[in-house]
Amino acid sequence: MVDILVIFGPNLNLLGTREPEIYGADSMADILKELAVEAERLGRSIEITQSNEEGVLVTAIQEARDKATSILFNLAAYTHTSIALRDALAMFDGPKVEVHLSNNDSREKFRQVSLTAGVSDGSVVGFGADSFYLGLNAVHRLLRKREGA
Ligand code: DQA
Repeated sequence: MVDILVIFGPNLNLLGTREPEIYGADSMADILKELAVEAERLGRSIEITQSNEEGVLVTAIQEARDKATSILFNLAAYTHTSIALRDALAMFDGPKVEVHLSNNDSREKFRQVSLTAGVSDGSVVGFGADSFYLGLNAVHRLLRKREGA
């Protein structure tokens, strides 16, 4: 079992070049590097997955039930549309934390609805690439509580 499965949704593979004024200058590779360093500091194993396809993400979350203790996820635009991803997350028993680089609540109305936040332990939004770093720490602390530490 991996401690934390980190899931990146559609278009996040283009971070760094994609609307940098909204999402920042860090690429996905930059974020992964920082997550790997922080995970090592926390003593947690992580696995990363990215897909632009809803069904692939549903399957990744289903398979996480046998493979990962917790999930840190940014499902990007599917956050606002996907009942299928919400249902998949609802079946996952471990800690689940949603992250967004931008502050969805200060953006368009359609981004102010998250179908997945309600089946998560909590959300970290609006801190740019740091949302992932903070989210990783949030998951780590939820795991510690579960471990009785
Ligand atoms: C996002 C916010 C979503 O509304 C958007 O579709 C994204 C990125 C974020 O991290 O700020 O692709 O999830």
